[in-house]
Amino acid sequence: MRTQVGIIGAGPAGLLLSHLLHLNGIESVILEARSRAYVEGRIRAGVLEHPVEQLLTETGVGMRMRAEGLPHEGVILRTEGRDHRIDFKALTGKHVMVYPQHKIVQDLIAARIAAGGQILFEAEGVSIHDVRTDAPYISYEMDGRATRLDCAIVAGCDGFHGISREAIPASARQSFEREYPFGWLGILADAAPSSEELVYASHDRGFALLSMRSPTVSRLYLQCAPDEDISQWSDDRIWAELSTRFTRDGFSLREGPITQKGVTPMRSFVVEPMQYGRLFLLGDAAHIVPPTGAKGLNLAAADVSVLTRALTAWFRSGATAGLDSYSETCLRRVWKAQRFSWWMTSLLHRFSSHTPFERRVQQAELDAVFGSVAASTVLAENYVGLPLIL
Ligand code: APR
Ligand code: PHB
Repeated sequence: MRTQVGIIGAGPAGLLLSHLLHLNGIESVILEARSRAYVEGRIRAGVLEHPVEQLLTETGVGMRMRAEGLPHEGVILRTEGRDHRIDFKALTGKHVMVYPQHKIVQDLIAARIAAGGQILFEAEGVSIHDVRTDAPYISYEMDGRATRLDCAIVAGCDGFHGISREAIPASARQSFEREYPFGWLGILADAAPSSEELVYASHDRGFALLSMRSPTVSRLYLQCAPDEDISQWSDDRIWAELSTRFTRDGFSLREGPITQKGVTPMRSFVVEPMQYGRLFLLGDAAHIVPPTGAKGLNLAAADVSVLTRALTAWFRSGATAGLDSYSETCLRRVWKAQRFSWWMTSLLHRFSSHTPFERRVQQAELDAVFGSVAASTVLAENYVGLPLIL
């Protein structure tokens, strides 16, 4: 089989890339290890930056998002029983869109199939070859039969645990990472959200986040040990802990049946460069951010925007400037999102290693945000999203 761009991974990065390439007349084939049902049912993040909402709308895949998504004009930071609202609209003129990632994946898969796109689910043994030549290819097995996809470009969109990053020799890449001393215990619950906007709570017992998926489904998280044993957390214990961490006069947490629970460890990670010959890494294959800043999906969309612009120029005119600068262009934005995500995480979580001095400085940092329009504006600008291509 032959195509112009071989894409590994049918997550947000791979699907959005295939969609945008198609709109620019560029063919691609996606090789995905898991089944369609698995990919479409994977519950992940839920906040779209303003530029990403616009991108989905402008490229014709935003209909359900506009019908079912929840535009949010601010978020609430809560500490010591006090709320401080970050007013995105007043500070930036923008909003974010709360819309589940798995629905974006469903919408993109539907759009690709409707346009005749090729997504090969349950591809096994995917392997990348000859990326330092002008004839790279991807080998894989489908229904037990070994085959290959010849292409001009390989896009590694296979996430943090994929194989693409390792296709860059260790001697040619450098990783930057930080493991956090905590994780998030996350739940989905059939309970109407207890706040119209997201609540980021910084409590002495630890961080908690109130988010949502719809007017009847809540998404909540609480800071826990990175290796927390989820079997030790009954539904009652989870609700009691969340209620404590969201404590504020006049506030009560609506409970309901918990339909999903899990523990996610937290890390910051970046690999440089994000390209090697005809191989380009996008999304979680190249970088991971702690979820506190809601940046993961949005960073993947930014990488896709950069590579789509570069490949369109290259396939149409042979211009290589965009491809040559792909990594540098993406990393300019990646590191700004890493800084913001690290900062939000450091601001709101409890660190057992903190000295009393460090705890006071952390409180003062939060007070500085509460008391300064300038500081609140910097938070708002980063939360609603920097331009996709800086
Ligand atoms: N071969 C084929 N497909 C693979 C392989 C492989 N060897 N390894 C992984 N994959 C697939 C996974 O099954 C998954 O569907 O690649 C896809 C990667 O998708 P994501 O992990 O969602 O990564 P990305 O598309 O970059 O999106 C980043 O999704 O995971 C969240 O928090 C993350 O919000 C962020 C966003
Ligand atoms: C979510 O809804 O899953 C979510 C929202 C905001 C975050 C992280 C996760 O910062």
